[in-house]
Amino acid sequence: MEGIKGKVAVVTGAAKGIGRAIALRLAKEGADIVINYRTNSDSLSELVSEIESFGSKVITVRGDVSVFEDAKNIMKKAVETFGTVDILVNNAGITRDGLILRMKEEDFDKVIEVNLKGAFNCIRHVSPIMVKKRSGKIINISSVVGITGNSGQVNYSAAKAGIIGVTKSVARELGSRGINVNAVAPGFIKTSMTEALSDKLKENTLNSIPLKRFGTVDDVASVVAFLASKDSDYITGQVINIDGGMVM
Ligand SMILES: NC(=O)c1ccc[n+]([C@@H]2O[C@H](COP(=O)([O-])OP(=O)(O)OC[C@H]3O[C@@H](n4cnc5c(N)ncnc54)[C@H](OP(=O)(O)O)[C@@H]3O)[C@@H](O)[C@H]2O)c1
Repeated sequence: MEGIKGKVAVVTGAAKGIGRAIALRLAKEGADIVINYRTNSDSLSELVSEIESFGSKVITVRGDVSVFEDAKNIMKKAVETFGTVDILVNNAGITRDGLILRMKEEDFDKVIEVNLKGAFNCIRHVSPIMVKKRSGKIINISSVVGITGNSGQVNYSAAKAGIIGVTKSVARELGSRGINVNAVAPGFIKTSMTEALSDKLKENTLNSIPLKRFGTVDDVASVVAFLASKDSDYITGQVINIDGGMVM
């Protein structure tokens, strides 16, 4: 894909799952990578080695995206090391599912803090860098449930719907500065986030997917790479579903 080689990409929550696949894909396309992670694990050093094997440079920055100063520090470390940030992927996310009749206030707040405010924090701190150079690509990971809603996910679907609002507003604000802001809305992707769901729910979900399979992390990473590339230079403020046709 054209236009990723030599760029600097920050991927939040990149130690595993979709974020990890995105970091690897962008590295494969020639970007240098800033991996943000929250908790360390053995797989983080494996990820670093894999990225280096593509010939890309990589740093890891610990930080909780829901903390304003941590988000600032991620961008600071990126600029100190690589001089700039060209691509930001807001991927970090959590779930705390529960029906509205039982949902705890702290579970609502936590999901909004990480999934929605985390994206705001990172965009807030990357914007000055991108505005100054009059170019940049911001890709936010929303979800199809931000469009449709989902029983048991009032907090998560509110956060993911909020991300769509953030995407469209920032796209309007920063378009004149050469910055593209888009979101992807994955459906059911096989990661640790979906692993915990019941077999019954998985079966029902599968029945609602026209392509008759769950998505893979690489299905998401390839669309994110497209949105980070020159090939999508005339696309901004959009939400692209990656869901096998589940929502249309
Ligand atoms: N899987 C799906 O079907 C699906 C569908 C639609 C959208 N999504 C979205 O895709 C994104 C990735 O999900 P996934 O399925 O890959 O989940 P995952 O395997 O649970 O990975 C989530 C990542 O986010 C990190 N993270 C969580 N809280 C963080 C924080 N406060 N600061 C920094 N990093 C944090 C986690 O780190 P720790 O492990 O250290 O907490 C982990 O590396 C999320 O935004 C999710 O909502 C997923």
